[in-house]
Amino acid sequence: MRIVITGAEGQLGVELVRALAGHGEVTGCTQADLDVTNPGCADCLAGLRPDWVVHAAAATDVDKCERDPEGAMAVNAEGTRRVAEGCRRAGAGLVYLSTDYVFDGQEGRPYTEEDAPAPLNVYGRSKLEGERATRSLAPRWVIIRTAWLYGTHGRNFVKTVLGKVRDGERLQVVDDQVGSPTYARDLADAVALLLSRGLTGLYHVTSGGACSWYEFAREILRLSGSDLNSLSRITSAELNRPARRPAYSVLENAAWRAAGLAPLRAWPEALAAMLAALRTVNSSTGRLVN
Ligand SMILES: NC(=O)c1ccc[n+]([C@@H]2O[C@H](COP(=O)([O-])OP(=O)(O)OC[C@H]3O[C@@H](n4cnc5c(N)ncnc54)[C@H](OP(=O)(O)O)[C@@H]3O)[C@@H](O)[C@H]2O)c1
Repeated sequence: MRIVITGAEGQLGVELVRALAGHGEVTGCTQADLDVTNPGCADCLAGLRPDWVVHAAAATDVDKCERDPEGAMAVNAEGTRRVAEGCRRAGAGLVYLSTDYVFDGQEGRPYTEEDAPAPLNVYGRSKLEGERATRSLAPRWVIIRTAWLYGTHGRNFVKTVLGKVRDGERLQVVDDQVGSPTYARDLADAVALLLSRGLTGLYHVTSGGACSWYEFAREILRLSGSDLNSLSRITSAELNRPARRPAYSVLENAAWRAAGLAPLRAWPEALAAMLAALRTVNSSTGRLVN
């Protein structure tokens, strides 16, 4: 099986290259190899003759997307359309990574795959367009909605918190947005499992349990032995970011469970594993925060 991974240098992409290595001949494409905003992208992708494309490339800075809707749509909507068109030409399946931000977070209960999306921000709308392109063009597809990703590679909330603590900064973190922090490594293993089982369709896949960003930060500090007094809670209104975020975007992993697959480990356990992995990475590179 030939597998092409887009966004191969992103925090999930790096883990996908690792997790899928045993499942076939893997080609990881960086933005320099395959820019999805390039009109030739579909041809280029089809020329690689993939059996599956795992499309992890995206514009993921939610506030930047809000300030630059055209740029967000160019990558997440039109770019995904090109990737899906490349899959159509190659007769390949497409695994598309989507987001909890397709929901407005107003229900106050976990969302299942049956719930109707209603994105609050440009990022969510652009990713939903990517879902639609995937469904309409790819000969077979898997759409995975996940949330609050972090990993040892790339920029993410965990590393930002650790960096601020290291620099002696105070942390003000919102306590009125609840979701499921998800370890990129566990998600990449889940993608590999879905592909190895030949499963298709829409899946919500996150680490188990839920928390607010404040509770997440608190656990990062506790597990890394940092001073909890440096942390205080604020509201989203006080933070006043350009993009609105859903208040409660927990994803029920209903289709995943219905397929007989074991739930991913709970987020605090996954976080502890990530911090341990980060310590290993950092001790080999000599850095405090990667
Ligand atoms: N991060 C989250 O919290 C989160 C939550 C839910 C869903 N997701 C989804 O999960 C997937 C993986 O996210 P991630 O956190 O791994 O993102 P990431 O670390 O930001 O990685 C995204 C990758 O996409 C690449 N990229 C950006 N524009 C591109 C273009 N025009 N053509 C080709 N590649 C391009 C980036 O390359 P450069 O580094 O060169 O810019 C980067 O390597 C995305 O589809 C995202 O929407 C993420």
